[in-house]
Amino acid sequence: MENLTLKNKTIIITGANAGIGKAAAIQMARLGGTIILACRSLERGQVALLDVTTQSGSQQVELMQVDMASQKSVRQFVDAFRNKHHRLDVLVHNAANFDHRQTKPVMTEDGVETVFATNHVNIVLMTNLLMDLLKASAPSRIITVASKGLITYPFIDIQFDNLNGEKRFSMQDAYYHAKQAQVMYTFDLAERLKGTGIIVNCVRVGNVAIPDERLDHLPGWMVKLYHFKRKFSLTPEKMAETYTWLAADPSLSEVTGGYWDAPNVAVKANKNAYNRDIQKKLWAVTEQLLQHN
Ligand SMILES: NC(=O)c1ccc[n+]([C@@H]2O[C@H](COP(=O)([O-])OP(=O)(O)OC[C@H]3O[C@@H](n4cnc5c(N)ncnc54)[C@H](OP(=O)(O)O)[C@@H]3O)[C@@H](O)[C@H]2O)c1
Repeated sequence: MENLTLKNKTIIITGANAGIGKAAAIQMARLGGTIILACRSLERGQVALLDVTTQSGSQQVELMQVDMASQKSVRQFVDAFRNKHHRLDVLVHNAANFDHRQTKPVMTEDGVETVFATNHVNIVLMTNLLMDLLKASAPSRIITVASKGLITYPFIDIQFDNLNGEKRFSMQDAYYHAKQAQVMYTFDLAERLKGTGIIVNCVRVGNVAIPDERLDHLPGWMVKLYHFKRKFSLTPEKMAETYTWLAADPSLSEVTGGYWDAPNVAVKANKNAYNRDIQKKLWAVTEQLLQHN
């Protein structure tokens, strides 16, 4: 990490007010990048902004509001970003919804189930809306985020008849379904962007500690489970090193379509993730879900 630099690079990190996103923001700010903390709550974002500037010693950190559950909010975020910035070097799609309180499908204002909207569809929207800037700033990088928990779903596939949880729903299934979609999107996008100077890579996040203040909405038994899991957890800082490596390491300039556990540790996704026909169908269906606005 010592030899890396992000000087003169502009980097968006979604969900940067907590956990891995915030740790990555601190690391990338230390490397000299201009960091945009793209956060749902300005209040939580302000607290994070102070932490990131203090811990990195950099003042090149900005806070901007975005709710990844809303297409309108993503569009407003991109408009506001463009009003201030004329380049984008790294786009980190870190934010995700894993709210255990949700037991039924909840539709967004765009008519898409919230978990699928937040963790997949609106990520595609944000990338699409920023694509011309990424191309103009190339070499540039897109980083997506999946989950090691997908190992427990070896046969998971895109459920085209259940995208909105209309047939069956559990938070856990919806979460992993959207993460599988992100892995497939990464592989597909990497293919589509070959030759543009934009590389696309996905981080397979393992068990990473979540602090108590982010668990206080959960029932007691679940908090206990998280405390137990924490004994085996990576710190957000350790996991963020993979984001930072993917954002900054010059040796990766031609490396695209990868799936990574840690710096230089490539892993395989499940078999279905490599199915080009399903990747293309997912792409088409996702585009349709973006036609509402
Ligand atoms: N921790 C793990 O063990 C683990 C395992 C596998 C994968 N991951 C993945 O790693 C990434 C980071 O997770 P983490 O562990 O750092 O979790 P975290 O501490 O809960 O952070 C999640 C971030 O996403 C933001 N977010 C959630 N919904 C949003 C929305 N609608 N719009 C904008 N931002 C939103 C949260 O903001 P608020 O403060 O507004 O909620 C928060 O900043 C996620 O993609 C997650 O799925 C984590």
